[in-house]
Amino acid sequence: MNRISTKLTSYFFIAVLIMEISLISYLHHNIVHARIDEEFSRLLATGSNHRDVLIEYYSDTTMKHIVLMEKDEEREVIITDKQGNIIQSSVENIESVEKYIPKGTANNLESDTILASDWEGLPYIISGHPYKVDSGHSGYIIMFQSTRPIEQLVGKLNMYFGLAGVTSIVALFIIYVALSKFLTRPLIRMKEATEKLSEGDFNVSLPFIGNDELGELSGSIQKLSNDLERLKTERNEFLASIAHELGTPLTYLIGYSKVAMRPGVDEKDRKHYLAIIAEESERMKELVKNLLDLAKMDENTFTVSKEYFMARPFLEEILRLVGPSFKLKKLRLELICDDEIKIYADPLRLEQIILNLLDNALKYSVEESVVTIKILNKGEKTAISVQDFGIGIPTREIEFIFEKLYRVEKSRSRTSGGSGIGLAIVKELVEAHDGSIEVESNLGNGSTFTIFI
Ligand SMILES: Nc1ncnc2c1ncn2[C@@H]1O[C@H](COP(=O)(O)OP(=O)(O)OP(=O)(O)O)[C@@H](O)[C@H]1O
Ligand SMILES: [Mg+2]
Repeated sequence: MNRISTKLTSYFFIAVLIMEISLISYLHHNIVHARIDEEFSRLLATGSNHRDVLIEYYSDTTMKHIVLMEKDEEREVIITDKQGNIIQSSVENIESVEKYIPKGTANNLESDTILASDWEGLPYIISGHPYKVDSGHSGYIIMFQSTRPIEQLVGKLNMYFGLAGVTSIVALFIIYVALSKFLTRPLIRMKEATEKLSEGDFNVSLPFIGNDELGELSGSIQKLSNDLERLKTERNEFLASIAHELGTPLTYLIGYSKVAMRPGVDEKDRKHYLAIIAEESERMKELVKNLLDLAKMDENTFTVSKEYFMARPFLEEILRLVGPSFKLKKLRLELICDDEIKIYADPLRLEQIILNLLDNALKYSVEESVVTIKILNKGEKTAISVQDFGIGIPTREIEFIFEKLYRVEKSRSRTSGGSGIGLAIVKELVEAHDGSIEVESNLGNGSTFTIFI
C-alpha cells in the first residue's frame, strides 16, 4: 500500500542508523583508549618516581616506604636485585602477580618499559624500571596496576553508549513512522485521485500540501483533472453543437423532400424544394468537410510545408477569387502591400486562412463599405490584417470566437449561413505555422483580424 514511503524512510532509517553506530563506536573507542593511555603514563610516572627516590636514598627503609606507599588495592610493586631476586614486595602471594611478568624481560631492561599491556586479557598492566646505584647495587622496580578500574570504566561506558543507542533507535523509529505517514498520506491521496481519473471520474480535489516536489505533483494531478473535466464538458458541448448543426438542415431536408414527394405538387414548387434540398445538402457537406479538417488538425496529422513567396501576386490572386462575391454586396476590397514583401508560409494553408477571414469580413460587413488587407513586415514575421467596417463583435465575446462552432449570435449567423468553424480552423492553421492571431473589434464599428506568420 505505502511502498514508496516505506522504502524512502527505510533508507533514511538505515542511513541514520549506520551513521549513529559508526559515531558511537568511534567515540567509545577513543574514550577507552584515552583512558588506557592515561593509565599507562601514570604507571610509568609512578614507577620512575619510585626508582628516582630509590637511587637517591638507597636503603631497606626506602624500599619498605615504596612498598608501603603502594599497599592499596589497585597497585602493587616488586623490587628485585640484578638477578631478579625479590628484595621487597607489596604483594603477599608473590606468585599471583609474578606469573604475569613476561619471561626474561628483567635481564635486559634498559629503560622504563611497559611489560604487559593486554588490559583485556590480564588482571594487571605491568611496567618495569631499572635502577643502578653508585654503591654498585642495581635491579628493577616492577609496577602492577590492576585492570579492574579500566574494566569498570569500559563497562560503564558500554552501558551509557548502549542506553544512548537504544534511545536514539527508538527516537529514530518514531521519526520513521511519522515520516512514512507524512509522506504516505498525500501519496495515497494522489494514487486514489489518479485511479479515479483513469476510471473516467474527473471530479478530483486534492488539498494544497506545499511547494515541494510532492506539492507540485499533487498540483499537476489537480490541474490534469481540471483540464480533463473541462475537455469532457467541451467535448459534450461540441457534440451537442454538431448534433444541432447537422440536425437543423436534416429537418429541412426531410421536410422538403416529403413535400416534394407529395403527389400533385406543382412542378415549379417541386423544383424550388429540390433546390432548397440541394443547397442545404451542400451546406452539410461543407460543414462535415470542415469538421474533418479540424479533427485532422487536432491530431496533428496534417503538415505545413513552408516556403518563401512574393506577397503581392499571391494576395492579388486571392482577391480575384473573392472579388465577385464582394462586388455583389457592393463592398470595396483594398490591398496595401509593398511589392518586395515576401512571406514564409505554406501558401495553400495561408490561402485557407485569408479566405476564411475575408469570408467573415464579407458576411459581417454592412453594404457599400470597405474591406482592407494590409501586409507588413514585423521583424522576422509578417503581419497580415483583414479589416472591415461591419457589425463588429461584443468585447466579452471576443475570447470565444475561436472556439469550434461558436457564433456570436446564433440568429445573426443563421441568416448569413455561418456554422462557427471558420475561425477555429484559422487558429489551428496559424498555430501550426508557429504564428499568432489578434483581434480588435468594436460593436458596430467593424473588426480587424491580424495574423503574425
Ligand atoms: N469580421 C467579423 N465581424 C463580426 N463578427 C465576426 C467577424 N468574424 C467572426 N465574427 C463572429 O465570430 C463568429 C465565429 O466566426 P467563424 O468564422 O468561426 O464562424 P462563422 O463565420 O459563423 O461560420 P463559418 O466560418 O464556419 O462558415 C461568427 O459567427 C461571428 O459571430
Ligand atoms: Mg467564418
